[in-house]
Amino acid sequence: MSTGLVIAIVIIAAVVFGAIVVLTTARSTDVRGTGALSRETRSRDRKASIGGATSTGREVEASAKGTELVKVAPAEVAPFVAPDPEALGVTRRMFFNRSAVTLMGASLGAFGAAVLGFLWKGAEGGFGSKINAGKIDDVIQQIRSNKGFLYLAEARAWVTEYPKGALGKGKAVYGNQAPVFTGMQSGIVALYQKCPHLGCRVPECKSSQWFECPCHGSQYNRVGEKKGGPAPRGMDRFAVSISNGQLTIDTGSVFAGPAIGVNTTGQEAEGPHCIGSTGGGH
Ligand code: FES
Repeated sequence: MSTGLVIAIVIIAAVVFGAIVVLTTARSTDVRGTGALSRETRSRDRKASIGGATSTGREVEASAKGTELVKVAPAEVAPFVAPDPEALGVTRRMFFNRSAVTLMGASLGAFGAAVLGFLWKGAEGGFGSKINAGKIDDVIQQIRSNKGFLYLAEARAWVTEYPKGALGKGKAVYGNQAPVFTGMQSGIVALYQKCPHLGCRVPECKSSQWFECPCHGSQYNRVGEKKGGPAPRGMDRFAVSISNGQLTIDTGSVFAGPAIGVNTTGQEAEGPHCIGSTGGGH
C-alpha cells in the first residue's frame, strides 16, 4: 500500500471520527433539552446532603412514611392559553447549536476534500510522482535537436545525454545510486532543476554547454557535476527507469548530486559562459 493511500485513509478516518464526535455531542445536547440539568449536576445533587443532614433521599422518603398528609383545597382550573408558536419551534440556542455543528462539519469536509484532492493529484501525475517522458529514443532525439538540453516542466527536470565512454568512471561515482546509473547506461541523466546552493532554478547555457545558475554563479557541466561557484555539490538527480523503451522519471526519488571535484565526463566549457562565476570557487 502506497504512503499516499495510507495518509488518505488516516485522514478520512480522522474526519469521520471528528464528525461523529461533533454530531453525537450536538445530539445529546438537543435530547437533554434547553434548561435541563447536566449529568454532572444530577450526580452532584444525588450525592449532596438534604437540609444539612447527611441522610439520603431514600432515607428521607422512608422516614416520611406514616406521616399524615396535609389536605389541600382543590385549586381552580387555570384557563387554557394557547402556547407561543415560537416556543414550540426551534429555540435560539438550538438554532445556534445546529448552525455551529453544521459549519464545523462543512469545514471538516472541505478540509478533507482539499487534502484528498492534493493526494489524488500526486497519485495521478505531476511533480512528486512518476512521469512518463516518452520513448527513450525520442527523448535523446529531442535533446540533440535542442542543442544538448531537454527541459521537462512537469518533472521540473533537465534531461541530458550521458556519454557511453564515461560509464567506467561514472560507475565508480554513481554505481551506488542504481536508479540513476540505470539511466546513464541508457544514455541519459535526469537532473533536478533546483540549484543545490540556495534553490534557484538553474538554466542551461547553450554556448558553454554547461548549466549556470543566475543567482550566485554556480556552474555545472552538462551532466550536472559541479564546475564552479558556491554550490556544495553537483546537481541533484532523479531515479529513472526504462520499460519497453519508455522512459519514466520518478520525481519522488531525488538523489544527492556528486561531491565537489567529481568530473566523470571531463567536459570543459565549449564556448562563452552565460554567467560569470561569482561564488567561492570551490
Ligand atoms: S542558488 Fe544557485 S548558486 Fe546560489
